[in-house]
Amino acid sequence: MTKVKIGIIGGSGLNNPELLKNGVEKNVETPFGSPSDVLIEGQIKGVDVVLLARHGRGHTINPTNVNYRANIWALKTVGCTHVIVSAAVGSLREEIKPGDFVIPDSFIDRTTKRIQTFYDGSKEGLPGVCHIPMEPAFCPATRNILLESAQELGLQVHPCGNLVVIEGPRFSSKAESNMFRKVGGTIIGMTLVPEVVLAKEAGLSYACVAMATDYDCWYDHVVDVPSVLATFKKNVDNIINVFLTAIPRIAKEDWTDILEQNKLTVKNGMQSEQV
Ligand code: ADE
Repeated sequence: MTKVKIGIIGGSGLNNPELLKNGVEKNVETPFGSPSDVLIEGQIKGVDVVLLARHGRGHTINPTNVNYRANIWALKTVGCTHVIVSAAVGSLREEIKPGDFVIPDSFIDRTTKRIQTFYDGSKEGLPGVCHIPMEPAFCPATRNILLESAQELGLQVHPCGNLVVIEGPRFSSKAESNMFRKVGGTIIGMTLVPEVVLAKEAGLSYACVAMATDYDCWYDHVVDVPSVLATFKKNVDNIINVFLTAIPRIAKEDWTDILEQNKLTVKNGMQSEQV
């Protein structure tokens, strides 16, 4: 049975080192530069985990400037097999209320400024060209464990959803928000692309618990940071509880076949000849 190590990328509340036993800070440099912050390695319920604050522990890095490649590379380098993440999102659907949770299963990429591959032809990048498939975008088995954990905790959780990822840092205009609803968006955020893409290229099993912090502006109201933060703070303990429930369950499963399949997906995505 393959031993798992779980990377956790999160925002406020999830950076609390007291969540971990034997937490040790580790500076990791990568060929792509520095991750958003130190990695904090330790154990939760006897399982090896690594915490990383996506925007830095002081929340100083905006969504465009997060070094997604360094973050994922660093987690891979210290031996992570899985990455579970939290994200604050706006709701594009009436039935997804602020405070609800969603386990996204696909995304619509509206980012414009981010490098989405390790195989980028640069001298620090990996050699070759990789056309990584994005279906499934998120690891179905890991998603399932997050979903069951949230359900067991009695949370209002929606089992799937299309996450629209915008460049930010601004919120959407009302016309954009309505368009995202029309094209099938369920929730909207600023960070999961290219994180999910790079995790897949790195062969990691990656899944997200998204918390709806607001109705996006299609809902005839203004989205503002204080209300987004207030909803996030009120519900962040629930995300922590989902992770605390899910982590031992992830560790109990045998991931050998899935991790092999992750590797094969990358291998099959490599373009080895001209077409
Ligand atoms: N994060 C939280 N709420 C959001 C929204 N409405 N749009 C984009 N990102 C968000």
